[in-house]
Amino acid sequence: MVTEKSAGVSRRNFLHAVGAGSSAGVLFATMGAMGLAPAAAAQPTSGDWTPPSGSDFSLTGRGRKTVVIVGAGPAGLASAYELQKAGYDVTVLEARHRPGGRTLTVRGGDSETDSDGVTQTARFDDGIYMNCGAGRIAQWMVTMDYLRELGVPYEVFTNANADAYLYNEKAGSRPGAPTRYRTAKADWFGYTSELLSYATDQGALDQKLTTADKDHLRDFLRSWGALQADGTYTGGNNRGFSEYPSAWNEHGTPLTGPASMSEVFGSRMGMYFPFEVNWEQSMLMFQPTGGMDAICDHFVRAIGKNNVRYNSPVTGVENTSSGVAVTYQRAHGPAKRIEADYAIVSAPAQLMRRWDTNWSPEIDAALGEFSIGSPAGKIGLQYRSRFWEDDHRIFGGITETDMDLAHIWYPSYGYGEKKGLVVGYYNTGGNARSYGAMSPAQRQARAVSQGVKIHGEKYATELESSFSISWDKVPYVEGAWAFPDTSSSGFTQLQAGEGRVFFAGDWMSEISAWQHGAFWSARYAVQALHAQVMAS
Ligand code: FAD
Ligand code: PHE
Repeated sequence: MVTEKSAGVSRRNFLHAVGAGSSAGVLFATMGAMGLAPAAAAQPTSGDWTPPSGSDFSLTGRGRKTVVIVGAGPAGLASAYELQKAGYDVTVLEARHRPGGRTLTVRGGDSETDSDGVTQTARFDDGIYMNCGAGRIAQWMVTMDYLRELGVPYEVFTNANADAYLYNEKAGSRPGAPTRYRTAKADWFGYTSELLSYATDQGALDQKLTTADKDHLRDFLRSWGALQADGTYTGGNNRGFSEYPSAWNEHGTPLTGPASMSEVFGSRMGMYFPFEVNWEQSMLMFQPTGGMDAICDHFVRAIGKNNVRYNSPVTGVENTSSGVAVTYQRAHGPAKRIEADYAIVSAPAQLMRRWDTNWSPEIDAALGEFSIGSPAGKIGLQYRSRFWEDDHRIFGGITETDMDLAHIWYPSYGYGEKKGLVVGYYNTGGNARSYGAMSPAQRQARAVSQGVKIHGEKYATELESSFSISWDKVPYVEGAWAFPDTSSSGFTQLQAGEGRVFFAGDWMSEISAWQHGAFWSARYAVQALHAQVMAS
């Protein structure tokens, strides 16, 4: 067990007596070469994850080590989980009242108080939830592996929907006349195919293509762009219909259009298409059934509830001559000090700089490079009817706009039920800051007044309740994500840890703003910690 005392001692400047660094790595590599260290404890290298195993201790006669983990977000919980599986004794300290960090699901009755002291309590019906932070998972992400390993049920998250809308009011869209994705795509693909086909016929590509290549390209463009025999684009049924084919009107009523090439390009809607083939965002994507927080809940269950302490904000982390000392506050009673063999700290980087530590100035400066202080916000709008499905025939997916609300998410759950929850804005940067500066009621009013332009009056009249979040105002998080420069020497320094303290968090990965990055950072920290243990 970790040793725990009341924290009567003020900050002590211990030397960094216990170095991980390269010397331990060299020692460990030498042991490995001599067959004294199990392969599981190799230094982490890219993509090389060999979880530590209990036999690493038993077979080498080492005692069980204690680790304090700061932060019960995905990185902290995955660290605790992997260490505990290998026989470590783990204690997780979490500042907030619940696990998950930026993986936050809000349901009816849940309350959050922001850093301005504004409290919102969600008034959502049973079964309705809002993923305030993480909402989607690409199928290649390690997050999927944890869903399966932990037994979390999951379902498809619809990230792209041909019948969702595009609405660019700065570039021609009018209230009440949004464009369906399928229509915008048909027109953009049609006209770009026409141009490329024309360039090919004019010989503009003769330096690049053989005669056979040109024939193959023309075949593709004719099909991709639904071109006429003369190579022009005049629209096709892939634009969609105002009335779809049926027994009474088997050919359907085509939509009017297309607009001219200049108008289509002027709409700027093509700028939304790369998102769908983006390596992080392309379908299929998934979500845990019932809310993203299921992942962290399952982690807590696996780790053991008694090993995770909530409402326990850490205020100090120090390397000592024999391990680490971690100080944290409690709602009642004096501060506590825990001594353990090691620590993994996974709070947002900018917040850890406020702690009482004996880290080197280089570590402090490196943490300064990885602040997750960039803002993002969302609002969940609960509606008494699912008019986006009933009237607009949109079952999941995202409507993109050039308004300050940016994205509107339709729910990928609860199809066919009476009520549902739309994410009425999901914005970042300056837009997120300006929404964050409003009261919850003002945020709702602004989001709804814009959504009406796309969905009509029901977007206002069917609304029952809302809950909004401004991530830079969430205590103990204070931001949405970092844009880390992983080629910086500070990054390498943080990955090595300092003394017996290791760092984890999505910002300690090549893929910040995703749980995948948080999980890999945890695995990296666990492997580095274990390598040090095996080298000691
Ligand atoms: P966090 O989740 O921030 O956890 C850090 C924890 O440390 C928090 O619980 C915090 O309370 C705690 N802490 C802070 N200070 C202290 C202290 N002093 N003492 C003790 N504990 C402390 N990811 C996806 O996979 N898919 C998505 O679709 C997605 N969308 C997102 C959308 C938004 C708006 C946001 C904000 C994030 C999104 N993410 C998404 C990213 C995902 O939420 C993060 O990558 C993940 O939560 C990072 O995990 P973490 O453990 O590194 O940090
Ligand atoms: N992972 C977050 C999301 O999917 C943030 C993000 C958005 C990251 C877009 C990359 C691209 O919403």
